Amino acid sequence: MPGINEKTFLLRESPTRRIDKIRETIVREGKDIILLSTGQPSIPPPRELREYLAERLMEESMKLYGYTQSQGIRPLREAIADDLKELGGLDLDPDQNIVVTAGAQEGMFATLAAVIEDGDEVILTDPCYFGYKPIIEYLGGRVKYVPETLNDGFQPDIEALKETISDKTKAMILVSPDNPTGRVVDSDVAKAVAELAADHDFWLVMDEAYKTLIYEGDHTWVWHYAPDNVIGLNTFSKDPGMPGWRLGYVYGPWNLIRAVKLISEEMVYCPPSVAQIVITHYLRSGMRKKFLPNVIKEYVKRRDVVISSLEKYLPETRFLKTQGSMFIFPDFSAYLDRLGMDGDEFSERLLRDASVATVPGSYFGSTTKFIRISFVTESPERLEQGIKIMSEFIEAS
Ligand SMILES: Cc1ncc(COP(=O)(O)O)c(C=O)c1O
Repeated sequence: MPGINEKTFLLRESPTRRIDKIRETIVREGKDIILLSTGQPSIPPPRELREYLAERLMEESMKLYGYTQSQGIRPLREAIADDLKELGGLDLDPDQNIVVTAGAQEGMFATLAAVIEDGDEVILTDPCYFGYKPIIEYLGGRVKYVPETLNDGFQPDIEALKETISDKTKAMILVSPDNPTGRVVDSDVAKAVAELAADHDFWLVMDEAYKTLIYEGDHTWVWHYAPDNVIGLNTFSKDPGMPGWRLGYVYGPWNLIRAVKLISEEMVYCPPSVAQIVITHYLRSGMRKKFLPNVIKEYVKRRDVVISSLEKYLPETRFLKTQGSMFIFPDFSAYLDRLGMDGDEFSERLLRDASVATVPGSYFGSTTKFIRISFVTESPERLEQGIKIMSEFIEAS
């Protein structure tokens, strides 16, 4: 049989997809699973938006079905530029500084492919969203870590960052609000990172997937401190909640946008046209102002249910109260040490034996005794039930 490029296997299957496969087998056995594993919103996009799409679907036109410019339709890029101006005061040119992508994942791959050369070092936080490391290594880059600890509210350690920067540093990736920790980077920390990026001339890739899902604190727009070095990665998967429709965008300086556009064009030709048209309307209609406050209210309620359930049923867990995103990331050391298990074994057995799906902390870095819990997919009642089952499972193990 002809061979396969071995480098391909540096690209690992996403843990949530892996868990989904085990879940499907259990569901086939007729068992009910409580899903604390996925960052998929359970609230669909606004009804008015779906009505708008329904109307457009009836038109005798190829607009929803045709190819678009590989950089994305101009009305959407203009709407994104205006949105970023309103949200963060950014001054971006829709032609020079924005490229629409098939989700943040494709934007992430195209961005990293555009900047990483063999032997380049890329700095990640530890823990960090699991999407980055495989792509960096696949592209020939080397990952360096900057620690973040629960005791420091998972803020990146600036002194450690200074020591990690070398003349091979090509980029640093910062996710805020963060997946898995739920922290929002403090403004002084974000500013310090951006200034280091400018001083040492490396790219600061800001993953802003959850920028509008903040419950405490504010998003810092690092672009203001290093406009020539900052690359923003964004998605419409979380707000307004259409992950399967694959739409996101990258903003940054023209030399980067031009490269991302070329790579994107080779990979997907153009982002999905129907999603581009729907999202242009979402951004232009002002719908988000009515929709998002209700989503945030609901997510805060669910986050608080998880927190009170942890305090009630698993009082020895330690965690940061989620400031943004869809996750809480408790430290289960007290329980796991007693059980003699690591997070991987705990999470897998919890799923197979007790039908509660979570993501073990090892998928994100050295946080092997932490467990990621998503609070957006299940109802408050089922969230509480899930935590209670975790505590019963620990008691029985
Ligand atoms: C931090 C972060 N970045 C990027 C992505 C990818 O988003 P998309 O659905 O747009 O590919 C996710 C998805 O969960 C994420 O959590």
